[in-house]
Amino acid sequence: MYVHRIAVIPGDGIGPEVIAEGIKVLDKISELDGSFKFEYVTFPWGCEYYLKNGRMMSKDGIEQLSKFDAIFLGAVGFPGVPDHISLWELLLTIRKSFDQYVNLRPVKLLKGAPCPLKDVKCEDVDMIFVRENSEGEYAGSGSWHYKNSPYEVVIQNGVFSRHGCERIIRYAFQLARSKGKSLTSISKGNALNYSMVFWDQIFNEISKEYPDIKTASYLVDAASMLMVKHPERFEVVVTSNLFGDILTDLGAAIAGGMGLAAGANLNPERKFPSMFEPIHGSAPDIAGQHIANPLAAIWSVSQMLDFFGYEDWGKRLLDIIQEVLVDGNVLTPDMGGTATTSQVGDAVVARIY
Ligand code: NAI
Ligand code: MG
Repeated sequence: MYVHRIAVIPGDGIGPEVIAEGIKVLDKISELDGSFKFEYVTFPWGCEYYLKNGRMMSKDGIEQLSKFDAIFLGAVGFPGVPDHISLWELLLTIRKSFDQYVNLRPVKLLKGAPCPLKDVKCEDVDMIFVRENSEGEYAGSGSWHYKNSPYEVVIQNGVFSRHGCERIIRYAFQLARSKGKSLTSISKGNALNYSMVFWDQIFNEISKEYPDIKTASYLVDAASMLMVKHPERFEVVVTSNLFGDILTDLGAAIAGGMGLAAGANLNPERKFPSMFEPIHGSAPDIAGQHIANPLAAIWSVSQMLDFFGYEDWGKRLLDIIQEVLVDGNVLTPDMGGTATTSQVGDAVVARIY
């Protein structure tokens, strides 16, 4: 039997509530399959840990995590700790240390999921975002001058390396080819006259290696409009760190809301553990009420199963999420229901057989 070692970081707010349901699902699947199982070690890192210890994770946290096959993360951030500290010291440190340069975010409207767009069919909203996850605007490069004076100046750089752009764009082309889909690049070459001109140039270069893949290229502002007006135009999408962050929240909004949006942070070479997480935050407004929707965390479990090579289970789990939505009887309030977080988790588990 193959044992997958999972580092669990439930984090803050609703993080622990939704992660518990994801683990129930993993356990049920491994129990039924019988050829693999999951072993978990839970780490108490997050804002509470920070308030006690002055840091978001232990000093040798990255070294500890490096011994696992994957990381399952809830959410980090809570009032009382500035968001740039919680995000940088935990989430972004893990993404960078483990070179998780692919952020894979499905924007797929499942049957039964609420959609604010008029006259849209589920088939029309079926995208997968490949967000660059290691550099760009989130590289942490910049400077702060003349602090606290009237002449204060801040500079935030966007870092785009040839290596970084080529590998993410190539990954997206490969994904498009494996799925028989088109690839759309989203950039902003008219205004960002270094970084995005460079991005577009590399996209054009690499597209020559993939003459079989249909491509499109949009400016980010036009793309946000088109995602709402013509979502069917987007299949596989590749974009920079910042644009991907923003557009996938828009994507979440048109595909059922934050309670359904999942994401995987991948190191495709498998040199380091990859990390799976719902894309929502810790939702302090509903934390502790047991009404958080666990389906986003469960969808990220489906991505984990895909990444481990259990694609049949990954697909089956996504089908089950859809069945639960279509059934409509056991849903959390954000989906218009009255069920608790664990009742939704149980409803998913009950359909795994
Ligand atoms: P958020 O995603 O936590 O919440 C936004 C809204 O969506 C809230 O009204 C919340 O109740 C709702 N919501 C989110 N997830 C839900 C779920 N599973 N079920 C039902 N409703 C859900 O974003 P917000 O409020 O901007 O950030 C809160 C904290 O989370 C901040 O400290 C922020 O920095 C952090 N954050 C952490 C992320 C991460 O760990 N990956 C990602 C985004 C935010
Ligand atoms: Mg975000």
